[in-house]
Amino acid sequence: MAFAPSDRLRKLPPYLFAEFERKRAALEKQGKDIVNLGIGDPDQPPPKLLLDTLVAHLKDEGVHQYSSTQGLDEFRAAVAAFMKKRYGVALENREICLGVGSKEVIAHIPLALTNPGDVVLCPEPGYPPYRSGTIFALAEPYVMPLSKKNDFLPDLDAIPADVARRARILYVNYPNNPTGATAPREFYAKCVDFAKKHGTIVVSDEAYAELYYEEAPVSFLETPGARDLGVAVHSMTKTFSMAGWRVAWICGNAELVDILRGFKANCDSGQFMGFQKAVAKVLTEGTGDMKSIRDMYRRRRDAFVEGTRKLGWDVPAPKAGLYIWFEVPKKGMTSMQFAEKALEAGVILLPGSGFGQTAEGFLRVALTVTEERAREAVKRLGTLKL
Ligand SMILES: Cc1ncc(COP(=O)(O)O)c(C=O)c1O
Repeated sequence: MAFAPSDRLRKLPPYLFAEFERKRAALEKQGKDIVNLGIGDPDQPPPKLLLDTLVAHLKDEGVHQYSSTQGLDEFRAAVAAFMKKRYGVALENREICLGVGSKEVIAHIPLALTNPGDVVLCPEPGYPPYRSGTIFALAEPYVMPLSKKNDFLPDLDAIPADVARRARILYVNYPNNPTGATAPREFYAKCVDFAKKHGTIVVSDEAYAELYYEEAPVSFLETPGARDLGVAVHSMTKTFSMAGWRVAWICGNAELVDILRGFKANCDSGQFMGFQKAVAKVLTEGTGDMKSIRDMYRRRRDAFVEGTRKLGWDVPAPKAGLYIWFEVPKKGMTSMQFAEKALEAGVILLPGSGFGQTAEGFLRVALTVTEERAREAVKRLGTLKL
């Protein structure tokens, strides 16, 4: 019998990194040492406090049963305390729902909140589930290009009136993957105005909010009026180097949070309660760990930026996030051509074209290798004949 993926699965855009990954696998098979600056998967172990707390709770009675979809009261109270301390945003438990990582939250939101034919505003370049979740819900993604001249913020005024009228969700993501941009308060105020005018829901993906190297990024939820029409999505993945644990939360407007919870109750049964307890502890007591993780990424960022600037490249230092986003250093060369050359020299950089047409001309570096390996990458890039 022949099987075919569903129409909606077939509607996803093609995976542009496929050929690039084939070349990488071939080089690795030949035993070539490659510095992988491609994946945003934190490489360090999570903080000791987190691991010790998990171990201490492993033998608790009841932690191995189903969790509620929305998460333990203890977990949500710790999230509320963290959001209050970090952003001055006071939340009740009912305004918070656990996520099995933030990816599923982001991908499920259109299924819970849109109808076929609604428009979802998606930044490009941007995290792919904004668009794939929209396509699965039979809604229409509308690309908002993030350009250097707009500081990688979408130009909401440029959205055509007929699109804005149908826009049910506006996804924003700061600190941004992949551009490294942060959003000023004025931008979030514009999002609130836009959403009020058009009846749109704002979903602010703040997965990288704790990885900052200058001033701490603000949350969308700090904006006056934000909680009437939007939510923020936070993740433990990048903050505490725990991608495999799958712990995140969505918070903000109580009605929206409850709709998503109701949707998720049909798809998942929360997350292991031992994880929730450990995260609750680290959210209330782990501030010191956050600082040391930030310092580690800052040193890696500086190693790459300072090194490549010495090569004469124009590489901006991001103020936050896990990525450096810079223009292809050689005029006339595409991002894929450049990334292939870098790969031959033993360094993986992601070509902007893989993030969508409007991202051509850029390259992304993930700060997920040690400082020493970042220096090694610079050394190898310095050998490129451009
Ligand atoms: C912008 C953005 N949001 C969300 C996520 C999802 O992280 P997780 O599902 O591990 O919480 C990622 C992961 O790379 C991301 O880049």
